[in-house]
Amino acid sequence: MNKTFFVTTPIYYINDVPHVGHAYATFAADILARYHKLLGEKTLLLTGSDENSQKTVEAATKKNLPVEKYAAEMAKTWQETWKKLGIADGGFGFVRTTSAKHEKFVQDIFKKLYEKKLIYKGVYKGLYCVGHEAFIQAGDLDEKGLCPDHKTKPQDLEEKNYFFKLSGFEEKLKELFAKNSNFVQPEERRNEILSFINSGLEDISISRENAKWGIKVPFDPNHRIYVWFDALLSYYSETPKEFWKTGADLHIIGKDILRFHAVIWPAMLWAADLPLPKLIFAHGFFTINGQKISKSLGNAIDPIAIAQEYGTDALRYFLFKEIPFGSDGDFSFEKLKEVYNADLANGLGNLIARVAKLAESLDLEASIAESKPQLDIPVGFALETLEFQKALNYIWDKIKATDKKIEETRPWELVKNDPDKAKSVVENLLRQIDEIQELLLPFLPETAEKIAKQFTGKIKAGEPLFPRK
Ligand code: MSP
Repeated sequence: MNKTFFVTTPIYYINDVPHVGHAYATFAADILARYHKLLGEKTLLLTGSDENSQKTVEAATKKNLPVEKYAAEMAKTWQETWKKLGIADGGFGFVRTTSAKHEKFVQDIFKKLYEKKLIYKGVYKGLYCVGHEAFIQAGDLDEKGLCPDHKTKPQDLEEKNYFFKLSGFEEKLKELFAKNSNFVQPEERRNEILSFINSGLEDISISRENAKWGIKVPFDPNHRIYVWFDALLSYYSETPKEFWKTGADLHIIGKDILRFHAVIWPAMLWAADLPLPKLIFAHGFFTINGQKISKSLGNAIDPIAIAQEYGTDALRYFLFKEIPFGSDGDFSFEKLKEVYNADLANGLGNLIARVAKLAESLDLEASIAESKPQLDIPVGFALETLEFQKALNYIWDKIKATDKKIEETRPWELVKNDPDKAKSVVENLLRQIDEIQELLLPFLPETAEKIAKQFTGKIKAGEPLFPRK
């Protein structure tokens, strides 16, 4: 039977267009999906749009559009963005939480949990932050009584809600974390979640009364289901069962949404008798020139604009080479340009150009495109542990070592004085290029494809891969 690999990105809110922070998680999922595909596994990368949020209604109102129309247009924009960025070569799964199939899945589970008495009706009194789509504690507000992250006044709510019996899963969660030290990564985040669980879990409200937008509670249509309860289920609702019969392999998320994934989601899955994911990985946040990405600062960078200027591969390289996956980092155009020129134009690009020119002068042929890719063990291992930076460093060490070999053997002189020796030296270099090209496949897929083309059949010097900026 074919092994499968199922990786997800967050299911993004659609109150705005994608920025480079969103592209970050999606590229990470793409690197892993490509890697598992190379291993011969049947792979699914799932992304999508989280549409049943109050934020969608607010954004549509601002644009003077009916919510459904706004949501459909934005879902298309997000889907198109991932296509333009080459995610899974356009072959990713895209779930919309307003689809009929998803809605039914959510309602069926809601009903099942109600029947199992894991959902019950109670009264909720508290503060609700629409920005977070979550209840917020009075103690977390700033001195003006505003949400410190969104700078908005939370809503004061007292209403009849349905509650999910999260408290009943506390022991099971502790057991899960004790038994499976790899359920949440990185380690630091795992410890954070563990201490949150150890501090005691309360039941959570999972419906809103008289809300106008969202999935209805099937047996009480004045209530709409809490957007996180609905969104988490989108990982499975439309996904072919073959990919999650033993749970998703990996959820890639940002550290801000870890509690939903590492506490509420497993409890929901146990309650619904569904399989748990194998790993939840929380990446860090990055700033732009040292500042938080925010609409009001106007620094929310469009990933497509960067890709147009530098190429998608350059953006991918920069993000994963500069920021260790799991840590916070900073993005700046100066740094991007610097890294582009040093590692891509001068490093990889220059090496490929030199070897191609030598091979052309000796009239050599190669067949990279036909060879079956074999990733070196250190790169495979770094990918299994999501250490992208480590993998890239390993590949770039190989590039530097190959460059050094050229300096030492001086093949351009051998071409004139000792053509036989030149041929054997350059053939050796070609084997190195073959290896480097294979290692680049998950990380820089467009570049790997260009190299494969250039080094298949008669080799020609060709255009530079990364023109200097
Ligand atoms: N809709 C929820 C996810 C539901 S998953 C079942 C959501 N959407 S979101 O669009 O607001 O955020 C998606 C992701 O973008 C989060 O994982 C968040 O961490 C990430 N990022 C938002 N800003 C970011 C940075 N500045 N840097 C890195 N990632 C950032 O939350």
